[in-house]
Amino acid sequence: MKNGQFLTLGIETSCDETAASVVADGRFMMSNVISSQIDIHTAYGGVVPEIASRRHLERINDVIGSALSEADVTKDEIDLIGVTYGPGLVGALLIGVAAAKAMAYACDIPLVGVNHMHGHIAANYLEHHDLEPPFMALIVSGGHTEIVNVPQYNKCEKLGGTRDDAAGEAFDKVARVIGLGYPGGPKVDKAAKLGDPGSIPFKRVYLEQGSLDFSFSGLKTQALNYLNTEKQAGRDININNVAASFQEAVVEVIADKAVTAALKYGQKQIVMAGGVASNSRLRELIGSKAAVHGIEVLKPSPILCTDNGAMIASAAYYAYRSGERTGLDLDAVPGLEF
Ligand code: KG4
Ligand code: ZN
Repeated sequence: MKNGQFLTLGIETSCDETAASVVADGRFMMSNVISSQIDIHTAYGGVVPEIASRRHLERINDVIGSALSEADVTKDEIDLIGVTYGPGLVGALLIGVAAAKAMAYACDIPLVGVNHMHGHIAANYLEHHDLEPPFMALIVSGGHTEIVNVPQYNKCEKLGGTRDDAAGEAFDKVARVIGLGYPGGPKVDKAAKLGDPGSIPFKRVYLEQGSLDFSFSGLKTQALNYLNTEKQAGRDININNVAASFQEAVVEVIADKAVTAALKYGQKQIVMAGGVASNSRLRELIGSKAAVHGIEVLKPSPILCTDNGAMIASAAYYAYRSGERTGLDLDAVPGLEF
């Protein structure tokens, strides 16, 4: 406690970001330290799990130390430690879990293991201080594309998800195919601004009537087929047009399904989360489609869309308030479900 505020330290190491943050009363970020490994993995065109866990190990203590000092608090003032224990890369998760358990034990601080996906949703509590459940959440990241009903704090009901590639994965794969490199999402977003989204008729995949599931794996094949056909015909390829048309095919389906889900469950708010939530076209399109039905769309700023410790601290705070406690036998669960 400091100045009457309950302080949570959040630790996140599920993929390629070593992150820690101190959050007051589950809502107010006092620090948000993110040590990104993106430059290291770029050379390999994607995250290399072994390298990720080694780097987490090298960085974790400094990152936690910086999160405390930037928040101007000491270990003794921390009331709760929240840590991501899944889903994610097992070797990466283990570093955060081990660090959190060691500190919880050494300093006698309660511990709560957090589902990374619940964390992404909780990022919105940090940005929108008045936001309270119930609402509909849309999580679109490198590993997940999920529509989740949130009836109350610390309760999530998954309504639909991807059957193959996640949205971010599709962005990364198509970016590679068209030579934009890694990480693909932001590069496609940028290139798409210069292209015509109606120039190539990529198929929108809605699956069965009423389904809230997604399928994006066919888009990479469609992009490859398009490139081959154009090359064989000796035509010039406009990468910006490919990026814009592909992006439109992805974001249109995501926006439609998120709005359908909100209408079905009578929710007046959709909150966005995950790395792909920073896609400029998705933010614009979902906003306009939802507005037609009087539904508000809340978007965290890009720094809270990406993996961070603050969102884990916020989720841990609400889990703790609803009575959750985690023992020191906490283990990483790479395939953790909702
Ligand atoms: O949530 P996140 O930081 O990590 C996890 O996957 O948990 O999401 C990373 C993903 C990557 O696939 C990246 O290409 C994508 O989010 N991404 C974007 C944009 N910024 C990041 N995709 C589309 N448009 C963007 N502006
Ligand atoms: Zn994530």
